[in-house]
Amino acid sequence: MTLSRSAAIRVVAPKVSNEPVGKAHGDSSTIAEISAGLLAPQASVSPKYFYDSLGSKLFEAITELPEYYPTRTEASIFAQHAADMATHTGPGMTLLDLGAGNCAKAASLFPLLQPAHYVPIDISRDFLNGAVERLRDRFPQIEMTPLALDLSGPFALPPEVGAERRQFFYPGSSIGNFTPHEAIRFLRHVRENTGSDGGLLIGVDLVKDHAVLNAAYDDPIGVTGAFNLNMLRHLNHLAGANFDVTLWCHVAFFNAEESRIEMHVEALAAHTVRWSGGEREFSRGERIHTENSYKYTIEGFKALLSEAGFRVDGVWTDAAQWFAVMHARVATE
Ligand code: AVI
Repeated sequence: MTLSRSAAIRVVAPKVSNEPVGKAHGDSSTIAEISAGLLAPQASVSPKYFYDSLGSKLFEAITELPEYYPTRTEASIFAQHAADMATHTGPGMTLLDLGAGNCAKAASLFPLLQPAHYVPIDISRDFLNGAVERLRDRFPQIEMTPLALDLSGPFALPPEVGAERRQFFYPGSSIGNFTPHEAIRFLRHVRENTGSDGGLLIGVDLVKDHAVLNAAYDDPIGVTGAFNLNMLRHLNHLAGANFDVTLWCHVAFFNAEESRIEMHVEALAAHTVRWSGGEREFSRGERIHTENSYKYTIEGFKALLSEAGFRVDGVWTDAAQWFAVMHARVATE
């Protein structure tokens, strides 16, 4: 475990944060969820709160860091093996892109995967619509149906998606941000929407040298630290909290027993934080758990897919086996 460099040299006197409690912009269920997490004996906040507008830009910057290998390693696997993956998915299918964002990853594979219909799914409709407008000009032969859907529970797809040959696409190892139990539940919901002629193409980050893992989540120029601490500013906005980011530092480490990177923010001094409807005193060194990023073995992830009702029929990795892309079909018996 390491502290971010800037935090490690800062001398901070204990204080009560005297930032005013501001207006809460989140809806009541968002504020209630944040409040429950902050008041739990081990305080935690869902990683979904990383992604305000600055947080999304910081995540994009993370993917360009030399230490953050997942994005470029996965891209190299697609560059080398997409033609083989296409033999598993077959041309003319409906490609359902889970958490599509700017749709760039799927679009880069269109020439090889040759979908007839592209269905990008994300929580933010505005972001999706803009991305799809630009793609329609480049790929006029592909029908496109953007869907704004919350994938955190069971989901159903509208009739315009069509029931045949659904290939789900879930790259980026975002599956690692769920606990294994949550991942199985999520993948079961995906399976419920995959017919017997469909499948799932998914990116998974693999267990590796702990130094490589630790560096990927605690980069020396502090981009990941900024990404982590920016969540506190987002909480100020959503829950009207008065987090003073100068009183917190970034902590990230590989927990080998749980096979996961853990990210936390750690209080540099004892102080009280207030938010709409709640407050908590944090002692020096106390942490708020902000993210898990699980790392799997190939066999371990196959077993997890099997628990969710999928059978793996294709695995592609880089030479160092740092990352894997798997294709799975619905298990029949
Ligand atoms: C989005 N997700 C796959 C990233 C990861 O590696 O778990 C989020 C991230 N957190 C810190 N760096 C990147």
